[in-house]
Amino acid sequence: MNTKQASADELMALEEQYGANNYHPLPVVLDSGEGVYVRDVNGKRYYDFLSAYSAVNQGHCHPAIIRAMTEQIQKLTLTSRAFYNSQLGKYEAYVTRYFGYDKVLPMNTGAEAVETAVKLCRKWAYEKKGIADGEAQIVVCENNFHGRTTTVVSFSTDPEARNHFGPYTPGFIAVPYNDADALAKVFDGHKNIAGFLVEPIQGEAGVFVPDDGYLKACAALCRTHRALFIADEVQTGIARTGRLLACDYEDVHPDILILGKALSGGTYPVSAVLSSREIMDVLRPGQHGSTFGGNPVAAAVAVEALEVVRNERLTENAFRLGNIFREEMQAYCARSTVAVAVRGKGLLNALLINNAEKKDLAWDVCLRLSDNGLLAKPTHTNIIRFAPPLVITEAQLRECIDIIKTTIAAFE
Ligand SMILES: Cc1ncc(COP(=O)(O)O)c(C=O)c1O
Repeated sequence: MNTKQASADELMALEEQYGANNYHPLPVVLDSGEGVYVRDVNGKRYYDFLSAYSAVNQGHCHPAIIRAMTEQIQKLTLTSRAFYNSQLGKYEAYVTRYFGYDKVLPMNTGAEAVETAVKLCRKWAYEKKGIADGEAQIVVCENNFHGRTTTVVSFSTDPEARNHFGPYTPGFIAVPYNDADALAKVFDGHKNIAGFLVEPIQGEAGVFVPDDGYLKACAALCRTHRALFIADEVQTGIARTGRLLACDYEDVHPDILILGKALSGGTYPVSAVLSSREIMDVLRPGQHGSTFGGNPVAAAVAVEALEVVRNERLTENAFRLGNIFREEMQAYCARSTVAVAVRGKGLLNALLINNAEKKDLAWDVCLRLSDNGLLAKPTHTNIIRFAPPLVITEAQLRECIDIIKTTIAAFE
């Protein structure tokens, strides 16, 4: 079938029939994108307020990133790490300076980078901290989301993500999020804690922002107990929350930093684990790797994606426009029976929908938003995440706020 000429219904039917049923998309078939906009196969234009779960921070098809990618793709795409390539070293020097680390380990997806951080932390614990082999524990938070691999879902507390995927990888202890005392108790009760893995804001769980001081307190506990503070900034990192990293709000420098998503501007799966020389050097040749990790296209794309963030001052834009978004939506929530509250940082925000009378009201709101030209998706039934590309202008944001308010008003 010539998919260009197929109707939206036909294209959705193909996904239904031949694709695994592991997603529940809104009934919109996208065909092109530019900046903050995407267009469906019928030519209808939408504001993208999901940004591929914060992977498209730099906007769709950013010309500089596409140029870097197409130039590299015509020259050399993949060598594997059996050889050096002309892009990787330059990228490694660039990304480590950009985020203030000694070394980087390049991977592809976010979940792979989390797996890498877990392996690195365990190996460090055995070889540097002196924990007996096989005994290391990593503390994680309840309601975490770190990806979908077997080990990662082993320490998920979400039954949807976890159930019937066992047997599970041992070695993880879950504590309540935003509760540094709970972490302190774990340190007091266990000798073998290798690290603490945390999202600085829990994105998938519904944009839960911890209290000021939480990350700093946890990082201090890790330092006292000689455990590694591991920040998963796959969703929150790279300007999304109004700082380059969400940890920057508390001046916390993680021992291990995990990045993904917007590291490529959404063009290509690029993830990274950054750390100190002391920690990273526990990995020796042959002990970890990835065929595609650190390939020349990924390296060229990631440098350009980070350049765009800096040159276009996306961090500052996310900070300023995020405040406007929350101020406007808070004022709306104060007089709404449908929108209960707004929360977030920078341009990672969530609107809570009152679904007491209709369980899937947030889904209905998202369908209507899509009719009105704005795409967003509920998470955990009654929470709508709003995360536009960070290249959005104030005028565009204000237009979107009007769309959101008008749409919700129709449900009051
Ligand atoms: C905090 C966090 N970590 C890890 C991941 C997994 O990334 P990926 O889907 O690229 O494997 C996600 C994805 O949403 C995430 O939000």
